[in-house]
Amino acid sequence: MTDTPYSGDYVVIRALENGVQVNGMTRGPQTRFHHAEKLDKSEVMIAQFTEHTSAIKVRGKAVIYTRYGIVRTDEDA
Ligand code: TRP
Repeated sequence: MTDTPYSGDYVVIRALENGVQVNGMTRGPQTRFHHAEKLDKSEVMIAQFTEHTSAIKVRGKAVIYTRYGIVRTDEDA
């Protein structure tokens, strides 16, 4: 992956409730959703940033594990 324009990092999304939405957003000049996934409680998705995916939007109660740390969507700042 050294000569590719994306990092290849993985994120883990663990749903804390039914119906958590994970949307993959496109890389490049246009930012739009290219993928929608629904997770039920305690389901886990392991996803990578790729040539096609530059951002991930998570909606609903979930814990997201990244190399930068752990984020809960329902946390107060
Ligand atoms: N086909 C998508 C891609 O390669 C699959 C994908 C990778 C994805 N990472 C994701 C979908 C994160 C949703 C969220 O880009």
